[in-house]
Amino acid sequence: MQDLSENRVLIYIFGASGDLAHRKLYPALFNLYRKGYIKDHFTVIGTARREWTNEYYRNNVLKSLEELPGSFNQKFSFIQHFHYQSHDVTDSKHYDTLRELGESLDRVYETQGNRIFYMAMAPEFFSTIAEHIKSQNLLSDTGYNRIIIEKPFGRDYETAKALNDSISKAFDEKQIYRIDHYLGKEMVLGLLPIRFSNPMFEQVWNRKFIDNIQITLFEALGVEDRAEYYDHTGALRDMVQNHIIQILALLTLDKPEKLTAEALRAQKEKLYEALRIYPIKEVAKKFVRGQYGSSDIPEHEPAYRSETKVDPNSKMETFVAGEINIDNDQWRGVPIYIRTGKRMPEKQTRVDIVFKASDQIFDKPADKTIITIDIEPTEGISLLINGKKIGLTTDPVGYQLSYHHSAEQLAEVLDAYERLILDVIKGEATNFSHWHELEATWHFIDVIREYWDNNAPTDFPNYKSGTNGPEAADQLLKQSGRSWVYNPEPRTKR
Ligand SMILES: NC(=O)c1ccc[n+]([C@@H]2O[C@H](COP(=O)([O-])OP(=O)(O)OC[C@H]3O[C@@H](n4cnc5c(N)ncnc54)[C@H](OP(=O)(O)O)[C@@H]3O)[C@@H](O)[C@H]2O)c1
Repeated sequence: MQDLSENRVLIYIFGASGDLAHRKLYPALFNLYRKGYIKDHFTVIGTARREWTNEYYRNNVLKSLEELPGSFNQKFSFIQHFHYQSHDVTDSKHYDTLRELGESLDRVYETQGNRIFYMAMAPEFFSTIAEHIKSQNLLSDTGYNRIIIEKPFGRDYETAKALNDSISKAFDEKQIYRIDHYLGKEMVLGLLPIRFSNPMFEQVWNRKFIDNIQITLFEALGVEDRAEYYDHTGALRDMVQNHIIQILALLTLDKPEKLTAEALRAQKEKLYEALRIYPIKEVAKKFVRGQYGSSDIPEHEPAYRSETKVDPNSKMETFVAGEINIDNDQWRGVPIYIRTGKRMPEKQTRVDIVFKASDQIFDKPADKTIITIDIEPTEGISLLINGKKIGLTTDPVGYQLSYHHSAEQLAEVLDAYERLILDVIKGEATNFSHWHELEATWHFIDVIREYWDNNAPTDFPNYKSGTNGPEAADQLLKQSGRSWVYNPEPRTKR
């Protein structure tokens, strides 16, 4: 008997020969297959301009699975679901071939007309692909049609709106899945349960008790082979507009009535309305930018401006730190410090919630209570609380309580891309960004960008590879008597 509960889908991947498809999408699809979420009734049509045969394409997919568990037979059966069609996305006629291939594979794999269109290409092509999908009738009448859009969604509000308007001609908002893979990470998904299923946290998660919040996304790597993209984008657009603001929203939004996509989005939108957009003259006080120079061993870690394909006079930032304020009753007066950069001492994504000090009654001042949520590479939570120092004293001393998922546990769960692709197959939109969220976040970012673009940095490069960024990022907190909780030692070797 046919298993009707099985996920049936035909996925068109535009950009099938690209880096994202190879490094993320094929491994994610294979893991979904290996774990039984997709079985016999899924198929992929990969497209790009180069003239590959099905066999060449399948071998390419197979190569991307080399490091993954699973037998050769299983991998071999998986790649039989993949089909390649050479296609130039700017050529209307090619879409007819794609449609015909889709219709025939729909019959073979009995996908019931369910279609996902994955935009794994440079963003300048998204509009033309979406428009052709509609004009050349690639949309199915019998199943669902969903489009997955990779970041960056625009360069600013104007370009994001133009992109959204053109995609909206072919897909309605409910069919558009704007992917931010941070929203698929285990501990990012864990923020709401931590906040809303612990009464002891719920009661104190506000300006009365919290002194400041710190969000850090550090990368140890430099720009690597993404220079062409990065040198036109920078850290503010690449990391702050999406990942950091999404994490900030999950940390500060009001409790939704239910955990549905609509209820969560409504709370996020309310939160974004309260994000303080700085007047342009405030930007320099609230935001710091940086660009990495070489390390002490320049041949190992060249300066950003010496990287291949980077403009030798580039003014693009590879580091951002800033203070964000939320003007509502819950958060007024609580600074949210954010920080992200390339060539930091180590890869680390974490959140530190720093509580206000209690009234002082001991001879020795107590430490501040801090909740730390580790998002990657380790995943868990720790709590720094005060207890009594052991021995003949009443002095307070910090106790560290912590829980982290084990490597064995994590090996069993879906990673971010796997989870998010499965969400799209199921039509679950909770962990994707709605257009209204993007509108609000671009308005916030555009002011900072405008100030920076009109006031070129004079001190770049202003931090050494392997350090915590420019001194000004520490000053941002020092001016109000605060400091970064997470302060790793500079890296001395790669
Ligand atoms: N790579 C990552 O880790 C990463 C992470 C997050 C987001 N993203 C986003 O994902 C998207 C893809 O990135 P990527 O790194 O995979 O880019 P990429 O390696 O440059 O791949 C681009 C793909 O587009 C195809 N292509 C280019 N022009 C075409 C045309 N006119 N018609 C048909 N196909 C064409 C290329 O194949 P042919 O040359 O054969 O045509 C290739 O398959 C981008 O939006 C990027 O910002 C990437």
